[in-house]
Amino acid sequence: MDLINNIKEKATKLNMRIVLPESHDERTLKAAEIAYNEKLAEIILIGNKEKILKDSENLGLKNIKNIEIIDFETYSKIDEYAMLMVELRKHKGLKKEQAIELLKNPLYLAVLMIKAGDADGEVAGAANATGNVLRPAFQYVKTMPGISVVSGTFLMFTDDKQFGEDGLMLFADCAVHPDPTAEELAQIAVSTGKTARAIAGIEPKIAMLSFSTKGSAKHPLVDKVVEATKIAKKLAPGMQIDGEMQADAAIVTSVGNKKAPESKIAGKANVLVFPDLQSGNISYKLVQRIAKAEAIGPILQGMAAPINDLSRGCSVSDIVNLIAITANQAGNK
Ligand code: ACO
Repeated sequence: MDLINNIKEKATKLNMRIVLPESHDERTLKAAEIAYNEKLAEIILIGNKEKILKDSENLGLKNIKNIEIIDFETYSKIDEYAMLMVELRKHKGLKKEQAIELLKNPLYLAVLMIKAGDADGEVAGAANATGNVLRPAFQYVKTMPGISVVSGTFLMFTDDKQFGEDGLMLFADCAVHPDPTAEELAQIAVSTGKTARAIAGIEPKIAMLSFSTKGSAKHPLVDKVVEATKIAKKLAPGMQIDGEMQADAAIVTSVGNKKAPESKIAGKANVLVFPDLQSGNISYKLVQRIAKAEAIGPILQGMAAPINDLSRGCSVSDIVNLIAITANQAGNK
């Protein structure tokens, strides 16, 4: 896939520091070795150094010994990070001892490294559920200015080139925010438009999806999408955004022409924004399974620094790809 090769090539020029907190996961160690060999990033592993080196030897990995390993037991910055956590969570009454306890969890240590400027991005989730990866990130790294909600995009590659941009489409939110308000849905649309430009290298044509096209149905759920479309257009006047529309009106030219003849997006959308997480998550999985589309992601967007969450069923190459994507996000901040 050319896009992934381009993303990898760009990553090699950015030299970003990407932390992998799940060093006990075999796939993560293998991916770390590949990323190191291909110079996709300066990899940092978190975990017990002795165990990591023993595991990597057993796996026949030759270069893990050349990668920086951060071990809670010996790391010199634990006290500094704990003080930073206390400061950032003083409104929640966090005590230093509690902070130190949290830092024993590599998922917290990783986000504190990013917050303190000792790493540029993180890839995790091969061995942890989404919530466990995201919660520390929400609490300490937080969202970027002007955005209050983190969301997750999938790059969907279909063999049928009539859809999206030569078969490439972005779907969001498929991973994070269960029930967005109209304002949050508008932010998700804008964040996804930015991801389309920064990572996919395409000019977004954003369709705000619903079960109604341009007033064909009346319901409070439709009203939310209509409102979100208005807000998104205000938030990003330079982006092509339209809605509300049904999925067929968004991606099939003949249907778009019939149902929304005035729309510049209908029939040509390359970014699909779903009204909530249920519809987004279900849709990407169905398209992946039934249409055999390749789904890359979720790429998390809206965070102040890139932190990406893998599926626990991921392969080594999924991790390697996400390391390269994360490096690009960090380098394009
Ligand atoms: N963006 C930014 N910040 C957020 C978001 C968000 N989308 N959601 C919650 N937060 C913040 C809150 O403001 C809060 O901050 P605070 O502690 O400083 O006050 C903190 O995160 C915790 O908020 P909670 O409401 O307690 O959130 P909780 O931890 O219960 O849930 C979570 C957050 C885990 C991400 C939840 O929304 C969730 O489970 N989402 C679905 C994830 C999922 O299962 N996805 C599908 C699988 S992924 C896949 O299939 C690829």
